[in-house]
Amino acid sequence: MAIKIVLANRKGGVGKTTTALNLSANLASMGYNVLAMDFDPQSNLTVGFGINILSLGASLSNVFEDRCSIAEVTVTDRHGCNLHIVPSTPDIEKVIESGCVANHLRKNELIKFKFGDLEEAYHFVIMDTPPGKSTLTMNSLAIADYVIVPMRLDALSTVGLKQMRDLVGDVKAQWLNPKIELLGLLCTFYEQNTDSLEHMDIISGVDSPFREYLFETRIRKNITLSKSIARGMPVIHFDKRSHGYMDYDAFTREFLKRLEAEHSSAILRPTAI
Ligand SMILES: Nc1ncnc2c1ncn2[C@@H]1O[C@H](COP(=O)(O)OP(=O)(O)OP(=O)(O)O)[C@@H](O)[C@H]1O
Ligand SMILES: [Mg+2]
Repeated sequence: MAIKIVLANRKGGVGKTTTALNLSANLASMGYNVLAMDFDPQSNLTVGFGINILSLGASLSNVFEDRCSIAEVTVTDRHGCNLHIVPSTPDIEKVIESGCVANHLRKNELIKFKFGDLEEAYHFVIMDTPPGKSTLTMNSLAIADYVIVPMRLDALSTVGLKQMRDLVGDVKAQWLNPKIELLGLLCTFYEQNTDSLEHMDIISGVDSPFREYLFETRIRKNITLSKSIARGMPVIHFDKRSHGYMDYDAFTREFLKRLEAEHSSAILRPTAI
């Protein structure tokens, strides 16, 4: 069974897409079979993989419309056959707002019944979501095993973290997805200045309810990460000497360690399947 991870934060511009892109590519480079799913109408993850959305025949919108299966809209990454992408196109917003989805009694669970055999084909499904709390985000939360919250350290970070913790709690309590868990909080855009350190102290302080969730790895602010996305590729294929690559490599290893603590490690080894 695939382990399904959502990158979510109701705040925008915190590194959700950058993390989804680089975590997916790093896991694939280690030999895992990865499905990266773009739930965002901005299509940043799709474009970040170098996919031209204008030339796509089908996308996640068609899955929500019930016209295609997930497998039918899946694209193989140009860097390796064990990484696949479910692209998003901007029309997904219109599809979601259309009467047949908007009035659907289970509109937050439409994607739940679409996986079928795909569960067995992948080690990981990594999902990128838009900011806010939309039907698209709710669909990703409905199928996720774990949520990772990328966050920027600022005066309002704890407000955003509380919102996300409450959202995960609601998803559990309302039986949309009783198995979902918060896997961790990832500090992005990290800078070794007093401002960052001060906010980090608040989140990692002994009294903080978020302390246990913090990943040790911090993603430093690094221009190479935005340059690589602009060039349509994860940083592993763009510049392996950059801090951006080193930080996401360290994060991917810490992510695997954290999951191995929750599952039997044999499930996670690519060679075991
Ligand atoms: N560690 C970093 N250092 C420098 N720039 C970064 C870093 N992480 C992301 N960026 C850049 O910051 C911008 C926002 O990042 P990203 O798109 O990953 O955030 P997001 O949370 O997905 O945003 P949205 O909520 O709009 O979907 C992008 O231009 C990205 O290239
Ligand atoms: Mg994004």
